[in-house]
Amino acid sequence: MRFFHLLSYVFPLPRLCTALTAGGGRNLIFSLLSSVLTFHVINIRTDIEFVFFGGGFDTPCVLARSHRINFVNPKKPLYGHISSIDSTGTSMRLTWVSGDLEPQQVQYGDGNTLPSQVTTFTQDHMCSSSSPSPAKDFGWHDPGYIHSAVMTGLEPSSTFSYKYGSDSAGWSEQIQFRTPPAGGSDELRFIAYGDMGKAPRDASTEHFIPPGSLSVIDAIADEVDFNKVDSIFHIGDISYATGFYVEWDFFLQQISSVASRVSYMTAIGNHERDYEDSGSIYTFTDSGGECGIPYETYFPMPTLEKDKPWYSIEQGSVHFTVISTGHNWTQNSEQYEWMKNDMALVDRSKTPWLVFTGHRPMYSSGEGYLNVDDQFTKEVEPLLLENKVDLVLFGHVHNYERSCSVFQKECKAFPKKDESGIDVYDHSNYSAPMHAIIGMGGFSFDKFPYQVST
Ligand SMILES: *[C@@H]1O[C@H](CO)[C@@H](O)[C@H](O)[C@H]1NC(C)=O
Ligand SMILES: *[C@@H]1O[C@H](CO)[C@@H](O)[C@H](O)[C@H]1NC(C)=O
Ligand SMILES: [Fe+2]
Repeated sequence: MRFFHLLSYVFPLPRLCTALTAGGGRNLIFSLLSSVLTFHVINIRTDIEFVFFGGGFDTPCVLARSHRINFVNPKKPLYGHISSIDSTGTSMRLTWVSGDLEPQQVQYGDGNTLPSQVTTFTQDHMCSSSSPSPAKDFGWHDPGYIHSAVMTGLEPSSTFSYKYGSDSAGWSEQIQFRTPPAGGSDELRFIAYGDMGKAPRDASTEHFIPPGSLSVIDAIADEVDFNKVDSIFHIGDISYATGFYVEWDFFLQQISSVASRVSYMTAIGNHERDYEDSGSIYTFTDSGGECGIPYETYFPMPTLEKDKPWYSIEQGSVHFTVISTGHNWTQNSEQYEWMKNDMALVDRSKTPWLVFTGHRPMYSSGEGYLNVDDQFTKEVEPLLLENKVDLVLFGHVHNYERSCSVFQKECKAFPKKDESGIDVYDHSNYSAPMHAIIGMGGFSFDKFPYQVST
């Protein structure tokens, strides 16, 4: 994290915007020179320049620009985050970013060293259509190289440390992290949310600013500090970069206070994957042409293949079945067969809790096709009941909602309040799954109709 003070830069003679030459423009420049603008700058590897615009969003014109500023070390290894690769709690994947193509290393535990696998993506990998997309055509910024290595031989529910980098590119700090509990052990404390995105830690403006994302991540970092979190699930709509790649770096930097220290698992959302003629179920342009490629590169999950972003994982007493609501889920589709099989094989004596999660919900009081696709509910909901799913977590709607024990739009049971007033769903007498919408990771809350028909 680095802060620049713009005051120290002497502007070259500004080309005044023509609309502002009559007095007001000059005054504006003059007052700027006697003020301080503070920017939160992160290392994005390429040179940066500060440009001061006038004329508003409709007729922007350049009032002043700074000279180019370069990063001392564009190869610096940054934004390391960890994720589970299986249910043992003994292997963790570390993924990080660097301007350096050469393999680097992770050094962890008591003197273990592993080389990184290095990958990247280019504009050619992205989607566009008859109209240009940010991802392919105008949002490009060089992502550098994405390094990844799997640390093995760890103990579950234990603390270790790592650092990553190389002698030529430099090294990260030494970071303490905690492995999740092994699948089948007694307890799991996890945090889940969707739709986080990123917000600037300064007064700048960019597209998609979820204002709550910073306070949410800072609050989770406090919980991680106090050792209250075993793992995190971010269930789709991850960075909202949607083709403006530099925002992935900002997002990775934002979450690194938690994602470098506990398992950060993800599901794919519409803002990572959806695009017309690209194989997504929904053909809106919500991914800006990314079509899931940056997402899968930054967040490699234990999936079977590329662009099949569904998987399951067990941590503590919970089996998580994680699906992509943006890929085909109709009966007989590959993903449907996979989830059916995955849930049927869960050993409930080992993991008594079954959590089903993805991005777009089956129920929300803010209904309509954009939020709830009844066809999805119709196809997939029977599997939830058959397999006695306890808890269903979805995002997409930017709010928090919790249902009764529900099946086919009918409440089959209601929770009862315990002595402290907390709602308890008694699944010793199972009736149906409970659904929660947790798309409250960052945005201002969506409004709902005052009265909801049932
Ligand atoms: C989804 O899969 C089903 C079953 O394989 C297939 O009939 C259908 O055409 C697929 N839908 C899309 C949109 O690809
Ligand atoms: C179990 O739940 C059903 C409703 O789903 C209810 O009719 C029944 O009384 C419950 N049994 C017990 C023992 O609580
Ligand atoms: Fe979404």
